[in-house]
Amino acid sequence: MISSEAAPFAKTGGLADVVGALPAALAGLGDEVAVVLPRYRSIDLKQTRRVWDYLPVHFGPAIYTAAIYQAPAEYPVYLVDCPALFDRAGLYGEGNSDYPDNHVRFAMLARAALGIARGIFRTEIFHCHDWQAGLLPAYLRSTFALDPTYVGCRTVFTIHNLGYQGLFSKTAMPEIGVDPALYRPDGLEFYGNLSYLKSGIAFADALTTVSPTYAREIQTPEFGCGMDGALRARSGALTGILNGVDYEEWNPETDTHLPANYSAGDLSGKAACKRALLEEMGLPSDAMERPLFGIVSRFTGQKGTDLVAGVAAQIAAEDGYLVALGSGEPAHEAAFLEMQRAHPGRIAVRIGFDNRLAHRIEAGSDAFLMPSLYEPCGLNQIYSLRYGTVPVVRATGGLDDTIEEGTGFKFGPYSRDALWGAVQAAMDAYGQRSAWQDRMRRGMKKDFSWNASAAAYSLLYRQLLER
Ligand code: ADP
Ligand code: GLC
Repeated sequence: MISSEAAPFAKTGGLADVVGALPAALAGLGDEVAVVLPRYRSIDLKQTRRVWDYLPVHFGPAIYTAAIYQAPAEYPVYLVDCPALFDRAGLYGEGNSDYPDNHVRFAMLARAALGIARGIFRTEIFHCHDWQAGLLPAYLRSTFALDPTYVGCRTVFTIHNLGYQGLFSKTAMPEIGVDPALYRPDGLEFYGNLSYLKSGIAFADALTTVSPTYAREIQTPEFGCGMDGALRARSGALTGILNGVDYEEWNPETDTHLPANYSAGDLSGKAACKRALLEEMGLPSDAMERPLFGIVSRFTGQKGTDLVAGVAAQIAAEDGYLVALGSGEPAHEAAFLEMQRAHPGRIAVRIGFDNRLAHRIEAGSDAFLMPSLYEPCGLNQIYSLRYGTVPVVRATGGLDDTIEEGTGFKFGPYSRDALWGAVQAAMDAYGQRSAWQDRMRRGMKKDFSWNASAAAYSLLYRQLLER
């Protein structure tokens, strides 16, 4: 698996959760898996073992060298230590701007993975995640097409989010050592630019995305982000495999981040979690009797901030409460802070990335809001189900695939009114305590563990190797 994120090493969103959990599930099925990840500054090498001293990669006249460290885990996690490219404060950038050499950084990730496969961990499948690993299939089709090391190897490219396309100026081509002939409309070219995402789409042997509905949606102009044509051209190779979740990390019965644990059989601990969350967020204890909505999210255009802002006043007016944790684009952070400012004592917002608080919001809220514009899979609504926190979601992508009328509230159109309809339905339903608890328990019993999804990937790998 080649990825720019994997929990617990580096995380900004759900990609990290997936790459942090899928390998162990595959190993459980008998597959041998290794993960290749950049060694960012935030990753401490103390517990790791240096397994390769000198891995040189030539990009035209430039040469980058890496050492490879192996982190202790049930399966090998190889950290590509190339300080010139990865020893930085951020994963992708700092402040609100991307690093200008991201094309080189993630070309290096792909090339280091190929080196690792040559020297340390022989593999038959390169499973590449998102644009950051998208160049690897292009190297295998060009630079290494005749290299005996990789003969028979197959590539899988998983799209976690079509909105992030790894776009760079075509002048970057000579800096990444890819055959210029691949810069064409059915290759790396995307409206006059170079796209690492398009590279994965064009050159991987199999394409997957993280829910069946999103697999259909991205082949339409509405959700295709300009890539729908390229995806339709490869629709025979594209499948949707729903993400699983890691119930060891997300389980209210054992979660060590919570002030109290609880289960479907004994919900009393959930009230203690709500009480503690209200206190932590500075909301009044009156909210114990009223619906508390939770949000944990990257604050970006994908996640429906404008819709939340549109219903915030009504939630407050109808005696509801809202807690939100997130970070991201300044305009979206500002919109949440404005909601807090306008409704003190009703709406409480924390800007930042805080895994412990994310767990406490999952546990302490009554309902969870995800009014996404699009959502490839979404993990928080699945965590919410297990925590007895009723999801209120827009019926798109994985949200539509994981939430049903019996476990949550769904709305269709991307509009403030449609969200308000679902929120209001949830607030009304909250008043009927025993029906609400039945709904909570139905959600808590849902099983989205990795077993089924890992088996689907494992089968896909085998089918590719039989070709
Ligand atoms: P996405 O990958 O689009 O961000 P997902 O729902 O798949 O959405 O996954 C988001 C993951 O990131 C979840 O594990 C969520 O708890 C976590 N997360 C997002 N924002 C924060 C934050 N500000 N603090 C802590 N965890 C966060
Ligand atoms: C992306 C998507 C999210 C998905 C996650 C993991 O970041 O936005 O919907 O759950 O990847 O696949």
